Amino acid sequence: MRKLINKLLIKFGLLITKAPTLLADKSLGVSESIPAELTEKVKVSAATETPDNELFRIFSKDTNVHKWHHYFDIYERHFGRYRDRPIRMLEIGVFRGGSLRMWKEYFHPDSTIVGIDIDKSCAAHELADQNVFVRIGSQADPNFLAEVNGEFGPFDIILDDGSHKTHHQIISFGALFRDALKDGGCYMVEDCHTNYWIKHVDSPETFIEVSKQMVDMLHEPYFDRKETHFRHGHPDALTEMEQSYLSANLNGIYFHDSIVVFDKKLRSLPKSELR
Ligand SMILES: C[S@@+](CC[C@H](N)C(=O)[O-])C[C@H]1O[C@@H](n2cnc3c(N)ncnc32)[C@H](O)[C@@H]1O
Repeated sequence: MRKLINKLLIKFGLLITKAPTLLADKSLGVSESIPAELTEKVKVSAATETPDNELFRIFSKDTNVHKWHHYFDIYERHFGRYRDRPIRMLEIGVFRGGSLRMWKEYFHPDSTIVGIDIDKSCAAHELADQNVFVRIGSQADPNFLAEVNGEFGPFDIILDDGSHKTHHQIISFGALFRDALKDGGCYMVEDCHTNYWIKHVDSPETFIEVSKQMVDMLHEPYFDRKETHFRHGHPDALTEMEQSYLSANLNGIYFHDSIVVFDKKLRSLPKSELR
């Protein structure tokens, strides 16, 4: 009977390849009852087309930038609206300085681009006469982040392209979203695929998991007060105070492949109307 159902689902394209793996593992316990081709993982082939946007053209001119191609459409989508005026941007992770130069060329010429990195050699990529600054310290050090904010902030855009370790992503977000990001600003964390790699997961909850909890904060005005602890396993990473701040200031969360984006904007209580 199950074979028949699977055949019908396949015929109508309703069975996605991941589901049978789960079924085989958890409920059926008889993997041979699932057609072999359906237990294989979905394979994504390498992109053949290059992004068709201005930022990618700027990226292609410098050999010292390290970015995934599919990020460029995501950058354009979330950062494009900041291009027509001078902004302040903070990027965590300088490496060879290529991305700082890329942002400098992409945004308004009077913008200030600040990079931070734990590696002292990155200081060489500062171009102070062009308003590109580098400060050396760890993204896991809230005091250092507060100093950088005091010197250059608050920022319109914060991009975390640093260590990609989950506890660093969480600490930096906690230290920067509230105090260092302007109202109307955008906080982006990239390379979140590392949240699925054991080597990079060094916190009880990954950054992606904490971000999923923040989706709940978007809906805080609708919670029945009696149900505030509806998650039962109360989130460790988000304190009560952080939750209330987030529910008032988080205006949107966007999940892309390997990137999470947070829009910050003081919200008013949602209002609905029937006319
Ligand atoms: C992926 S690279 C940055 C790439 C650069 N943004 C680009 O697009 O070309 C990551 C950088 O994060 C830095 N890093 C590692 N751990 C860090 C930490 N705890 N705090 C700040 N930076 C860190 C590394 O030294 C490295 O230069």
